[in-house]
This record gives sequence, structure tokens and C-alpha cells, in this order.
Amino acid sequence: MRAALYDRYGEARDVLRVAEIDRPEPGPGEVRVRVELSGVNPTDWKSRSGATPRPIDGFQIPHHDGAGVIDAVGDGVDPARVGERVWTWLAAATRRWGTAAQWTVLPAAQAVRLPDGASAELGACLGVPAMTAHWCLFADGPVAGRTVLVAGGAGAVGHYAIELAKHAGARVVTTVSGPAKAELAARAGADLVVNYTEPGAADRIREFGTVDRVIEVALGANLDLDLAVTGPQSQIVTYAAEPADPVLPVRACMSANVLLRFVLLYGVAEADLLRAAADITAALADGALTELPAHRFGLDEIAAAHEAVRSGAVGKVLVVPS
Ligand SMILES: NC(=O)c1ccc[n+]([C@@H]2O[C@H](COP(=O)([O-])OP(=O)(O)OC[C@H]3O[C@@H](n4cnc5c(N)ncnc54)[C@H](OP(=O)(O)O)[C@@H]3O)[C@@H](O)[C@H]2O)c1
Repeated sequence: MRAALYDRYGEARDVLRVAEIDRPEPGPGEVRVRVELSGVNPTDWKSRSGATPRPIDGFQIPHHDGAGVIDAVGDGVDPARVGERVWTWLAAATRRWGTAAQWTVLPAAQAVRLPDGASAELGACLGVPAMTAHWCLFADGPVAGRTVLVAGGAGAVGHYAIELAKHAGARVVTTVSGPAKAELAARAGADLVVNYTEPGAADRIREFGTVDRVIEVALGANLDLDLAVTGPQSQIVTYAAEPADPVLPVRACMSANVLLRFVLLYGVAEADLLRAAADITAALADGALTELPAHRFGLDEIAAAHEAVRSGAVGKVLVVPS
């Protein structure tokens, strides 16, 4: 099969190559998926570059996310799953078989049935962003009737945080940096979209109501705003590291009586990941999740795909393996 892979860390153009390798067979408890679309996330270029290195087992096919069709199953997996359309999550975590290839193999539970009507584009967008958004939203309990602030609502995680929060019955306010991103965030269903670069952003959010839970992409940049709009018992949940770590204003955080939570998807408990995958699939079946604007690249353009994500492409970068 054709696969994009690397065997050392480095710049995309230096280490990524396309090679013909043996098609993998599914082991016990695994399925093999013929990949239609592979979704690229910031974690993929960070792992590949060595910025946040993950061990390489001889070679690494990048990307956790994708959509495709199961074409073989290993021992212990229901053969009736052959032919099932699926979306994948964490395909390349502790494994060499990422989705940037014509086929991937992964544990059966990490290839989740795509409901009828859900496109491959949508399936390939979900993995890392939707799973991260889910745990950030629900780690501290339900959000029904609560007010949620999603920082950066046009980002991939932000997009699914808005949609999953709305599906769960929350009121959602989100921040963006300009009109095009405001349009995206509004389309995702946010009740209020605020430009965080303009004066008065905190006032506009406060008028909307006290925020119970913040889903935060830039804690250092936004902590003053977050503390200004939250109340005692609110949670601020951070899932992204900025280039420089912020200095924590401890007294201000104490006075606000907020809870700070930090999330890294790779360390979330398996039971919580399985619950997230089931909830996301239920939301898909309800038509509550939408794809991000897609930027498609061929497998031979894998380096350009990684560079597009690294430079902050708005929407979802997808690689077409075949
Ligand atoms: N911890 C985890 O497990 C985990 C999981 C997924 C992603 N991540 C990390 O989370 C980050 C985002 O991932 P992504 O896939 O959502 O990326 P993305 O699609 O590129 O979105 C990033 C968004 O952040 C927004 N943003 C940046 N600074 C902001 C600020 N000060 N206030 C509000 N919004 C701001 C950007 O909008 P503007 O440019 O308009 O500000 C952009 O829309 C990456 O660093 C990624 O590595 C971590």
C-alpha cells in the first residue's frame, strides 16, 4: 500500500516521504480500515517535528483521524463489521499505523460507526478535535442549562465544543478574532459571538450571563477575561499550550474561586474516551455536528498538508490517500 511516513523527527519536507509498504493485517481485537480521508491536527506536526516527540517504532505513519470503510477484522471482532463506514480516533497513539495511508489497523473500538448521512469529510474532522472538546466540556459534569464560553470558536476544537455544548443543552458564547471566523462560529450554533480583539469583550460576555465553564485555547492571553466573566465554582478548562507559559495570578484566581483544569487527550482514561466516542456518534446521528471547511491534499502533498496546519489554516486539512 502507499503510505506517508517518517522515521526521524524534523521539518515536514525533510522527513516526510511516501513509500510503498506491506498492507497491515488486523491483529486480535483490531479492524483494518481502507482510508478515504485522513484528518490532520496540530498534534501531528508537533509529534513529527519533535516539538512534542512521541516514540517512533521503526517508522511512523502520521495522523490519528480519518474516515473509511472496514475491510478486514482480527480475531474476536464481529465479522459483520466488514463493510461498515467508520470514523477513527487516536489511530497513531502508541502505534505506527496512522491514517495517512491507504489502509490503517487499529483497535476495534477506535473505529466507530459513521451514522447514515454523515459524510466522510465530517468523519475525518472528528477524532482529536471532537474527543478533546467532549472531555473539556464534560469532565466536570453536565452542561445542560449552563453557560459555556468557548475561546476560539472557529478553531477545530472550538467548533466541536460549540456544537457538543449546544447539543447538550448549554447556552454558548464564543470568541473569535474577525468576521470570517465569526461567521463560522455562528454557523456552528453559538448564541453569542464576540470579537476578543475589540474593547469591551468582557462586558459583552458578562451581559450574556456568568460563565460556568470556559473551554480555553489560550490561557495566558485570556485569563484576565476568563476571571472577569466567571463566578465562584466556575471551571476554566485549558487544552492548549501557548509558546510561553503564563505566570499564574494566584490571588486573582483565589479571589475568583475558580477551578482550573488542564487536558491532554493522550492521558484521558479509556472509559472516558469510549464515552466520548459514543456521545459524539449519538450527536452525529442527531445531525448536531458539522464538518469544518476542508482543504484537501493528495498523499504526495503530505508535507504541504502539515505546513498548512502549522501555519494555522482555518478549517480542516484533509489528506486523500488514494
Ligand atoms: N490538549 C489536547 O489534548 C489537545 C487536543 C487538541 C488540540 N490541542 C491543541 O489546541 C490548539 C488548537 O487546536 P485546533 O485543532 O483547534 O487548532 P485550530 O483549528 O488551528 O484552532 C486554533 C484557534 O485558536 C484561536 N485562538 C488563538 N489565540 C486565541 C486567543 N487568544 N483567544 C481566542 N482564540 C484564540 C484561533 O483563532 P484566532 O487566530 O482568530 O485567534 C484559532 O481559531 C493547538 O495548539 C493544539 O495542539 C490540544
